[in-house]
Amino acid sequence: MDMRTNEAVAPERLLVVTGASSGVGRATAKSLVLEHGCSVIAVARSAGALEELSNECKAGAGQLHPLVLDLEQADAVAKVQQTVSGRRLHGLVNNAGLLIKQPFGAWTAPETSRLFHLNAAVPLLLAQGLAPLLAGAPPGHVVNISSMGGFQGSVKFPGLAAYSASKAALTNLTECLAEEMKDLRVRCNCICLGAVDTPMLRAAFPGYPAPVGPEEVGGFLARFVLEGHKFFNGKVLPFAVSTP
Ligand SMILES: NC(=O)c1ccc[n+]([C@@H]2O[C@H](COP(=O)([O-])OP(=O)(O)OC[C@H]3O[C@@H](n4cnc5c(N)ncnc54)[C@H](OP(=O)(O)O)[C@@H]3O)[C@@H](O)[C@H]2O)c1
Repeated sequence: MDMRTNEAVAPERLLVVTGASSGVGRATAKSLVLEHGCSVIAVARSAGALEELSNECKAGAGQLHPLVLDLEQADAVAKVQQTVSGRRLHGLVNNAGLLIKQPFGAWTAPETSRLFHLNAAVPLLLAQGLAPLLAGAPPGHVVNISSMGGFQGSVKFPGLAAYSASKAALTNLTECLAEEMKDLRVRCNCICLGAVDTPMLRAAFPGYPAPVGPEEVGGFLARFVLEGHKFFNGKVLPFAVSTP
């Protein structure tokens, strides 16, 4: 209760968004802070980009806390846990992703390991490490950001075998996590993105005209992580008006 206005004060909603320095993750974190008044721990390696985002979020009711971190490092989950510092978490958006494109025949073991580690293992380890803090009422919501390339039956593209397979692992992980976390009342869903106009898409498909920009997608994902757990659990949802 705010004693000055006599109105109920909504409890702080705290979320973790990975890959928040660019593209979809940046737009999601920004929307959560500016449009929904949430506090967001924004994870990425690029300190300058996170600082810039933090400045852009200063006008919001919520707060953005930059966490400069390489999620490929072994102690990454522990560092995120330290930053959350025992507070109740309302959401985790597993958005950070790596795309490596290679012609079939040129793949190396280290490249495939990196793809599967960042795109699938890190989301599992983060969900596992943060689940006790996501537990409770209303249920915490883990949203995994996969790709249409990882959606069963979708069109596949040459050069993306290991990337698409790592995203398929993330879609399957979503169903597993929903089961693993059900007793904690933590929900988990997956959005399989089609083409979004971001640096990742422009590097992988130069000149491809994406039908949506990161702001529209980030606005949707912010609403989805805050509300989607009421209607979906363990679901893999294609989000595409095209299928590159
Ligand atoms: N754009 C599309 O068309 C499209 C389609 C399907 C799926 N997706 C998926 O959507 C998600 C967002 O992609 P995007 O298009 O927005 O790409 P983006 O603009 O390149 O952003 C990728 C983000 O991931 C972060 N990241 C990468 N490696 C990291 C690491 N080791 N540790 C911490 N952060 C790391 C990057 O931050 P730093 O470099 O600062 O670390 C950046 O913030 C990805 O999972 C991608 O696979 C995108």
